[in-house]
Amino acid sequence: MAYENITTAQEERIHIITINRPKQLNALNKATIKELHEAMDAANKDASTRAIILTGTGEKAFVAGADIKEFSGYNVEQGQELAANGQEILFNFVHNLPTPVIAAVNGFALGGGLELAMASHMRVASDNAKLGLPEVSLGVIPGYGGTQRLTQLVGRGKAMELITTAGMIGAEEAQQWGLVNHVVAQDELMNLARKIASKICANSGSAIKSAIKAVNANFVDGLNGYNVEITEFGNCFGTEEFKEGTSAFLEKRKPDFK
Ligand code: CAA
Repeated sequence: MAYENITTAQEERIHIITINRPKQLNALNKATIKELHEAMDAANKDASTRAIILTGTGEKAFVAGADIKEFSGYNVEQGQELAANGQEILFNFVHNLPTPVIAAVNGFALGGGLELAMASHMRVASDNAKLGLPEVSLGVIPGYGGTQRLTQLVGRGKAMELITTAGMIGAEEAQQWGLVNHVVAQDELMNLARKIASKICANSGSAIKSAIKAVNANFVDGLNGYNVEITEFGNCFGTEEFKEGTSAFLEKRKPDFK
């Protein structure tokens, strides 16, 4: 499929999606959000894809936020529609995707950019990365789930400080906060992401889907995550991959998950 604002590449079982609007520091306009949805959906439905890496073009930015030029003339209804639609088709969609998404944060991850990284299942960053939710400096607040996911990831106090000061933190501090898992030099970032993705690809895809469902249940109001874990644990026993994984262990060989 041809895209205007992103590029995609398949490397064996790893699918790489790159946001490609370098002149706007990869800012997310509506068209880019729609394309990201389509690319994520297609990669998830492709049985040969077992992990997705999401990054930005260039050495300066992962994503510098939602496209300010696009929404600067919006009214209240249009603002609410922008946030609701974005959350539904991209940010919540990625959060709940059964195929793990690794955000490789290669520079600025601001506003909607940090929100997209936080919606991903895990984050790695280059040492020049700068992360923040600067929306209040524009007279608006994070609208793509940032107030919720930042609080979940780093706690209320740190989230309040980052959001109300419209500040930015560097990669090392983000790692100390638990916002990113690893920090490496920029030229090592994609290899690190590939290394993590390869480890994911060696494991049972059906078990990983169940694990994502169970972990995400922790963040759903009114849902008992322990019960979801019990259900998903049981479901695993009905899969071919459970038979293969346990047989391989007992036969002292490596499992071959198709
Ligand atoms: N939207 C649209 N265009 C953007 C953009 C954005 N979020 N961020 C950068 N750009 C554009 C700039 O307008 C500029 O374009 P022109 O050359 O046509 O003027 C180009 O990208 C390069 O940017 P700068 O010249 O500003 O680069 P810099 O190195 O001086 O600064 C920066 C880099 C600190 C990231 C700065 O660009 C910046 O502050 N960007 C905005 C960050 C921001 O506020 N993000 C939050 C957006 S709101 C949001 O995301 C809402 C939501 O949750 C839904």
